[in-house]
Amino acid sequence: MLRSAFIALSQNKRLRAFSERSSAGRQLSSRFVAGMTIEDAAHASERVNHEGIAVTLDSLGESVTTAAEAQASAAVYHQLLDLIQQRGLNANVSVKLSQVGMDFDPALAERIVGEMVEHAARTGSFVRIDMEGSPYTEATIAITERLAARFPGAVGTVLQAYLYRTEADAERLLGQGIRIRLCKGAYKEGPEVAFAAKADVDANYIKLMKRMVTFTANGKGVFCGIATHDETIVEAMRTFVRDNNVPKSAFEFQMLYGIRRDLQRRLADEGFGVRVYVPFGPEWYPYFMRRLAERPANVFFLLKNFFRN
Ligand code: FDA
Repeated sequence: MLRSAFIALSQNKRLRAFSERSSAGRQLSSRFVAGMTIEDAAHASERVNHEGIAVTLDSLGESVTTAAEAQASAAVYHQLLDLIQQRGLNANVSVKLSQVGMDFDPALAERIVGEMVEHAARTGSFVRIDMEGSPYTEATIAITERLAARFPGAVGTVLQAYLYRTEADAERLLGQGIRIRLCKGAYKEGPEVAFAAKADVDANYIKLMKRMVTFTANGKGVFCGIATHDETIVEAMRTFVRDNNVPKSAFEFQMLYGIRRDLQRRLADEGFGVRVYVPFGPEWYPYFMRRLAERPANVFFLLKNFFRN
């Protein structure tokens, strides 16, 4: 119930406007958001890189409604790709299609992301197209496929283990050599498209991650992102790769900024690839509320620290 309440609140425009403007809101969000500016994000990336952990940078923002807003989002991503190259950061970028116009002009969104992927291909970087709610799934996969055909290795997307369709989507993308980040899924979905029980989502996750890291075609695998903080799944992965001689270079663990830092460091110390998703920017509210939805106990933790400071 609490999860649904937080997801509903994440879409509340008035609360969003109020929270994003208030300094208390910014202070609370700093647990999961690396700061408001590109420079904040660069500093956070340097700190994370210093621990032997890679980064994917997310300029927060979603559901823009005008072409000017979509172009403004794109401009930040081009700055990020230049900054990654100039400062030699071990980083790439993650972007949402709704942030670049998908809701009102899908052709514009595809053109804008295409320009980002072209930039990434030129500078040896990579663009991950985040996955949003299920109305976006097919279009996100199709755009990724078209861009991957033009810029192989410079773009990938995300699949969500809670969707029934994901097993087929994984085969579809692996068959084209397209990199997948596997996550459980963060949106509110109905039983017609998604597993309702956590146990079913977790079981599907484990089945899919094993398939992804052992897939080969013409003697070649596809590098995958195993995005979870679930220690049971991380353990299952460790056992599976050890027992099946899967090389550590076949995948990386991915986690969110500010969540399970202990586990991130431990895995990096053990020689696993680890990447942290570093979100930043003034439009932090929907992202932050989805993190609270995943673990409502965070509310008490955040408030306790807030009043202690
Ligand atoms: P689960 O929710 O079962 O949590 C397992 C354990 O992890 C918890 O018991 C707790 O210890 C810890 N934990 C999890 N969430 C926490 C939180 N918010 N605060 C504190 N502890 C927490 N989703 C999506 O729909 N589209 C996308 O593109 C992405 N992209 C993405 C990138 C990366 C790098 C990650 C790690 C995740 C995403 N997600 C996502 C989010 C994902 O779908 C999912 O909602 C969260 O990762 C939480 O699920 P877990 O796998 O961590 O397991």
